[in-house]
Amino acid sequence: MQSVIRKSLLDAFAKNENQYLSGQALAEIVGCSRTAIWKHIEELRKEGYQLEAVRKKGYRIISTPDKVSENEVLLGLETKTLGRSIHYKESVDSTQRIAHTLAQNGASEGTLVIADEQTAGRGRMTRHWHSPRNSGVWMSLILKPLLPPQKAPQFTLITAVAVVQAIEEVCDLLPEIKWPNDILIKGKKVTGILTELQAEPDKIVSIIIGIGMNVNHRIEDFPEELKGIATSLAIESGDTVQRAKIIQKVLERLEALYHIYMVEGFTPIKLIWESYAVSIGKQIIARTITGELRGTALGITDEGVLKLQDEQGNVHLIYSADIENKD
Ligand code: BTN
Repeated sequence: MQSVIRKSLLDAFAKNENQYLSGQALAEIVGCSRTAIWKHIEELRKEGYQLEAVRKKGYRIISTPDKVSENEVLLGLETKTLGRSIHYKESVDSTQRIAHTLAQNGASEGTLVIADEQTAGRGRMTRHWHSPRNSGVWMSLILKPLLPPQKAPQFTLITAVAVVQAIEEVCDLLPEIKWPNDILIKGKKVTGILTELQAEPDKIVSIIIGIGMNVNHRIEDFPEELKGIATSLAIESGDTVQRAKIIQKVLERLEALYHIYMVEGFTPIKLIWESYAVSIGKQIIARTITGELRGTALGITDEGVLKLQDEQGNVHLIYSADIENKD
């Protein structure tokens, strides 16, 4: 009951952003007494919400705590589907694993799993993903597009664009995309994307998009082996960043891009993706499971596959690799 009241109280503030709501109005919206509202307001303050109270006007939320549980993410979220159902956990092995289980059990499109900490976060190519408590965004999103499985890799690229746009908007930074799934700031990795699939031979059942964002890490929070190659939004912007805010923006941007993609196909997304890409036109080394290829990154195909031209002029299609820039 408590959490139902809490949720509708926060909903009321979200729907009337920046406006004052009187105790009486809140009591009517939420369906409880003014005394109960006052108690909940005090509870919210203890949890780190800053609420302003002005006589004859009422209450207004000034800032929310840096938490990533359901209430904080839903407060002010402007999406129709993505993130409308949230499974939040303080600590999990991997949000990816939980999202897979939820998807197998029929979770709806847009279902989001968020954790404050992952003890066994997974990266691409079975690597470990460093996911310490309270400093990053560790989340997995379930999508259910009516498409053949070959289209799944495009979702990594669509998500990369959404993440870059969200970072630009919230932090005023200029991130870049390194094919296929790294988001970099000044050459250091700030976000990784892991796209996994549950599919039948001819159709996608669910896509699980895992996003790991280094948000409020200080440089000393990274293990030695990551210090030279990873960064966080806080390090780059010089400010702490509200994790719920960045989650909301990623979901909002992704929902818009997903809609464009389903209606118009990949071409418009490809153009935006290329405008953020670091390697295009550059000399690169692509390390694949079958070996190493050197040459010029020409761009991506309409499927999102990387085109590399070697010194003999042969064009190779790279489906999965680690990329190193040579210039
Ligand atoms: C990579 O760059 O290798 C991809 C990293 C993806 C990490 C995210 S964090 C949330 C989700 N849960 C996981 O276990 N992995 C992804």
